[in-house]
Amino acid sequence: MMNSRLFRTKPMLDHTHQASDNNEMKRALSATNLTTLGIGAVIGAGIFVLTGQAAAQYAGPAIVISFLISGLACLFAGLCYAEFASMIPISGSAYTYAYSTLGEFIAWIIGWDLILEYLFAASTVSVGWSGYVVSFLKDFGINIPPQFTAAYSTVLVNIPDLGWKPITDQLTASLASSGVLIASLPHITAVLNLPAMFIVALITILLIIGIKESASFNNIMVMIKVFVIVLFIGIGFFFVHKANWHPFIPENTGVWGHFGWSGILRGSAVIFFAYIGFDAVSTAAQEAKNPQRDMPIGILGSLGISTILYILVAIVLTGIVSYTFLNVADPIAVGVNEMGAGLFWLRPIIKIAAIAGLSSVILVMMLGQPRIFYAMSKDGLLPAKFSKIHPRFKTPYYSTVITGVVALILAGILPINILGELVSIGTLLAFAIVCVGILVLRYKRPELKRPFKTPLVPLVPILGAGICLLQMYSLPFDTWLRLIIWMAIGIIIYFTYSIKNSKLVKNAKKV
Ligand code: ALA
Repeated sequence: MMNSRLFRTKPMLDHTHQASDNNEMKRALSATNLTTLGIGAVIGAGIFVLTGQAAAQYAGPAIVISFLISGLACLFAGLCYAEFASMIPISGSAYTYAYSTLGEFIAWIIGWDLILEYLFAASTVSVGWSGYVVSFLKDFGINIPPQFTAAYSTVLVNIPDLGWKPITDQLTASLASSGVLIASLPHITAVLNLPAMFIVALITILLIIGIKESASFNNIMVMIKVFVIVLFIGIGFFFVHKANWHPFIPENTGVWGHFGWSGILRGSAVIFFAYIGFDAVSTAAQEAKNPQRDMPIGILGSLGISTILYILVAIVLTGIVSYTFLNVADPIAVGVNEMGAGLFWLRPIIKIAAIAGLSSVILVMMLGQPRIFYAMSKDGLLPAKFSKIHPRFKTPYYSTVITGVVALILAGILPINILGELVSIGTLLAFAIVCVGILVLRYKRPELKRPFKTPLVPLVPILGAGICLLQMYSLPFDTWLRLIIWMAIGIIIYFTYSIKNSKLVKNAKKV
């Protein structure tokens, strides 16, 4: 009995009805809006922060290959997402897809897991946003008190010329190598990351006001970041010194993951974060004008454009600067420095692009989360309040506020690395389940109409799920532990609340 409840699937017809009948949200998004939404969510901290670090520590110029590997894994998952999104065009993303294929319990698990992707990513990226804003303001002589610029209890040290930075083993080692003892520099303990909290609050308000307003803001941010990235690639191309690409794959140091092919693999796991977000397009299905046609365009289009830009940035950046100098929080700015004094004007523009880019990532992540809550609440797995739509703005305002408040607290008190790794493991799990879902559905319901079909089934979903699981495997034990604790909390909620309130079970009882 319990078994049949847990694995009960939601009939496809219900989804289609839910999509067409009383659609309470506004259908305002075109294929272009959906593609920019995807690019908005994808291009952010990954390229502006992580690329340089991954090249310097793991892969060298071969970070280009890491980008290709990670992009390929995302392409497989993206193709599976696209099939589902064209078939089940309603809000809720992977949660909804799992409900139709793998049953209610797995759907709950994935819905709960997606909170790690969207809500936690919003917090992670807002911490990155805070870093860029603090540095940008500093360039203009505006200094935010350092104790309000980092996670609670983070110890910051004041480094001449660089300003206040969190103490890490790497920082201590690199200062020591230049003869500076970190203990001799002024220290301060941080209380809260106020700029990170500020941007989350601002975006929450924007999201409540309306989907169209949010999409317009996103379009502007995306235009700025893409324009500046293309500018960097175009100008940077002329400053490439081919010698910087030699050796293209630096020799392994004897430690797994430090250069050589194992370094390329580890690099690909690190920069996976840069690809996260294209799936957020699927959460806005109910606000798309023509979801069955446009969802696959939005998902695959944004993934394709971002991949091309990433690979070009990686090629140009490692050609301008030796990868050994890229272990910094702002690698693109370091690349611009290398181009010489004539291009100093580009430096603040790069920072503005990063700030715009990170803002749009936060926006799309925080747009996705409430729409998943909305779908779960419509199914009875979360309280009805979570699907309340604002009468005037037509947005899921209640769950938007909940998302905003939780993301704001996390952004204020947690450091970026803990948040970031949780985001990666949560997303990889979601991608793997979506790939498996496509296989299950092809086998169980071959007759269903699929406006977009994943090519080369079963190869693509098997490879997609396989690579995701492999990348999960490469993440640290602590991250697994946090995932397990998070999932245990979710399972308790499911068995104490959701299973009893599920509309599917209730409706079935009535019949
Ligand atoms: N892909 C997003 C970023 O890099 C999450 O910021």
